Amino acid sequence: MNRIEIKDLNKNYEKFGNQTVTICGWARTIRDSKNIAFVSLNDGAFKCVQVVVERDKVANYDEVVKQISGASFCVTGKLVLTPEAQQPFEINAEEVKVLGESSADYPLQKKRHTIEFLRTIPTIRARGNLFNAVFRIRSTAAYAIHKFFQERNFVYIHTPIITANDCEGAGEMFQVTTLDMDNLPKKDGKVDYSQDFFGKKVSLTVSGQLHEETLTHAFGKTYTFGPTFRAENSNTSRHAAEFWMMEPEMCFTDIDGLMDNEEEMVKYVISYVMKECHDELEFLNKFVDTGLLDRLENIVSNNFVRLDYTDAIKELEKVKDKFVFPVSWGIDLQSEHERYLTEVVYKKPVFLKNYPKEIKAFYMRQNDDGKTVAAVDLLVPGIGELIGGSQREERLDVLLGRMKELGLKEEDYSWYLDTRRFGTNIHSGYGLGFERMVMYLTGISNIRDVEIFPRTVGSIQG
Ligand code: 4AD
Repeated sequence: MNRIEIKDLNKNYEKFGNQTVTICGWARTIRDSKNIAFVSLNDGAFKCVQVVVERDKVANYDEVVKQISGASFCVTGKLVLTPEAQQPFEINAEEVKVLGESSADYPLQKKRHTIEFLRTIPTIRARGNLFNAVFRIRSTAAYAIHKFFQERNFVYIHTPIITANDCEGAGEMFQVTTLDMDNLPKKDGKVDYSQDFFGKKVSLTVSGQLHEETLTHAFGKTYTFGPTFRAENSNTSRHAAEFWMMEPEMCFTDIDGLMDNEEEMVKYVISYVMKECHDELEFLNKFVDTGLLDRLENIVSNNFVRLDYTDAIKELEKVKDKFVFPVSWGIDLQSEHERYLTEVVYKKPVFLKNYPKEIKAFYMRQNDDGKTVAAVDLLVPGIGELIGGSQREERLDVLLGRMKELGLKEEDYSWYLDTRRFGTNIHSGYGLGFERMVMYLTGISNIRDVEIFPRTVGSIQG
């Protein structure tokens, strides 16, 4: 079958004027006016093609018009240019094959549905415009990330999913075991993990960073991009139990170089998506978030703010009565604080840096003040935290001291500490929450609508 994809046809339709073409796809709508019918056909491209089916020309006309939305077809016909009409061309069908019928319970027969209803039909929702746009932008953004790092000599690393270490130290890990949960082996009153698959207690990873750092010390610049898992009991619009994280790591780079890379990367990905997904963004700007295009444009053309945590606290203390959670030096900022800084005070992305060491992970570089670490989070309007990162503690003795304070056993991390034993150096890295990036790019306000089968606390389907 010499089939042309609708995306290619939409791009080059003028070339095919008056020629016979074959397209395949699913009917979005079928309108029958007795002797002439109009089928809006879509094969995954953002814009549908209108197929005109005439009783005189198509032998199985009655079979075609009794079909309903969701049915699949293969159509051969003449491409006719229609410069006066809304769509620049249509296909006058000569042959229409019904490939697969739909049925009356196909959920997308109505034109408009609420986003909440669409969330209940994850297997079907991407057949409509909204989720078609979201998942294409997701794909394009992922490609842009790879392109950005590959063009800059970073090496893509696949870090393990199963791990014996809690990178962030927050204890929010999903355990992986083959032990019989109804009959757990015990020793001294505790579960005997020596009988488990790996001979010890293991979990799904919360971050590939620690494993990645070992290869960064071979290649100089690396990135990971894969699924991560957090058993965080946060039932919010920004938290998922399974999400994708992209983690670059750079040797011979301090916190300033880190922020430069983050800003360049975010702007690159936004610009790339704006160029490649123009129709999708126009649609989202019209139906989901009318400020989306202006906001993206603004981000690309303005510098991000770089602000110390201590100064941010001073800013927040000026208006502390506005907040539900009290503000004082040492607190972990809540979403309301982050949003106030980015949406009210600065109205653009803000790098917040040099956090109190007590609220950050063990591997972050301690500053000379003895109180803070060289951590930096990127906060953006509408989302809050998009990226978390830091300059790493490269001094072995200081790192060991911090690990001891936090009760981390040196022997559990000896493989990681090789990076500090052999040729340690100033190095930095960060983690981008990919779903939050997609939310930012699409104006979608709930993480459940940028993952195909979202996994959130208390909810899993498929
Ligand atoms: O700030 P986090 O916890 O950083 C790390 O895991 C570091 N090891 C990264 C690194 O330096 N290589 O997480 C990084 C980002 C957050 O900024 C956020 O965007 C996203 O991951 N994130 C989540 N996204 C969705 N659901 C969750 N439950 C998330 N938790 C974190």
